[in-house]
Amino acid sequence: MKAIIHEKYGSPDMLELREVDRPEPRPHEVLVKVLATSVNKADWHLLQGEPFPVRLMAGLRKPKYQILGADIAGVVERVGRKVTQFGRGAEVFGDLSGSGFGGFAEYVAADEKRLAKKPSNLTYEETAALPVAAITALQGLRNKGKINAGQQVLINGASGGVGSYAIQIAKSFGANVTAVCSTGKIENALKQGADAVIDYRVQDFTRDNKQYDLIFDVVGNHSLTAISRVLRRKGAYVSCSFSIGVMVSGPWKSMIERKKMMNLLASATPADLQFISKLAEEGKLKPVVDKTFTLDDVPEALQIIGQGRVAGKLVVTL
Ligand SMILES: NC(=O)c1ccc[n+]([C@@H]2O[C@H](COP(=O)([O-])OP(=O)(O)OC[C@H]3O[C@@H](n4cnc5c(N)ncnc54)[C@H](OP(=O)(O)O)[C@@H]3O)[C@@H](O)[C@H]2O)c1
Repeated sequence: MKAIIHEKYGSPDMLELREVDRPEPRPHEVLVKVLATSVNKADWHLLQGEPFPVRLMAGLRKPKYQILGADIAGVVERVGRKVTQFGRGAEVFGDLSGSGFGGFAEYVAADEKRLAKKPSNLTYEETAALPVAAITALQGLRNKGKINAGQQVLINGASGGVGSYAIQIAKSFGANVTAVCSTGKIENALKQGADAVIDYRVQDFTRDNKQYDLIFDVVGNHSLTAISRVLRRKGAYVSCSFSIGVMVSGPWKSMIERKKMMNLLASATPADLQFISKLAEEGKLKPVVDKTFTLDDVPEALQIIGQGRVAGKLVVTL
């Protein structure tokens, strides 16, 4: 099979499209013929081996995961002997970031617990745009942020992969959503359902008078003091960018100011994949595909994601 091989930490041009053996599914795994995958910021960090803590998980001197790619959508081709949920021909999607990646290839052996049935109303390309980004938005808003109908929710970084879904998921919970993005992405944010948009190039939301019950932050470019100014008492701040500030002073701020400040480390579960799938089937969550690529173009897609100016998701079709 063809796969994009990652043998050294570095830039996208160190990746190579090569012919390699198809993986053999273990007893709890299925062999999935990958029909689409998508690129995430995590792939960029794993490619570079930066920031350094990434290497504690992915290999200190050289990459442990030779095929990157967490998001997949495809068809089950073979089934391990202990697999119970899927048969040959099942249409599936999933997030393989917790089980060794492998999505940038024609086939991947995936633990059945990392997969769910593909939403019936979406194409494979649309489906592959969902898992990591939509699960991150869901777990940040619902599990950490305890989002509720009628709340004022602000999403900082609302135009990228995670942010575009955060707008839609927050709306599906009945919140009033303010999206923070750049000038060129305002239309997109309104299309995803934002009630109000702040262009961060002309306005700093932490200097406004408006206060929020929940701030979901995928950028992490404001101090906790600034965030605290616009967070209501008993409100919650959820950071996607694993901030040391949140780790160190978050518990103290929670105690003194009665404002919860938390880091998020999302991890896909079958139940959450099904939740996302149901939202998509109900029309409450629409995949946001900025651009599509072929497998050979994965290095180019990674270069773009690394620059951080994507409007939604970059999808790779096979
Ligand atoms: N903690 C977790 O479990 C977890 C899981 C997944 C992802 N993440 C992290 O979450 C972050 C976002 O991921 P993503 O996939 O959404 O990345 P992305 O697609 O690159 O989106 C990031 C967005 O941030 C916007 N942005 C840049 N500077 C900004 C600013 N000053 N104010 C407001 N928005 C700004 C950019 O939009 P403009 O073009 O509008 O500037 C860009 O579209 C990454 O750091 C990723 O590593 C964490």
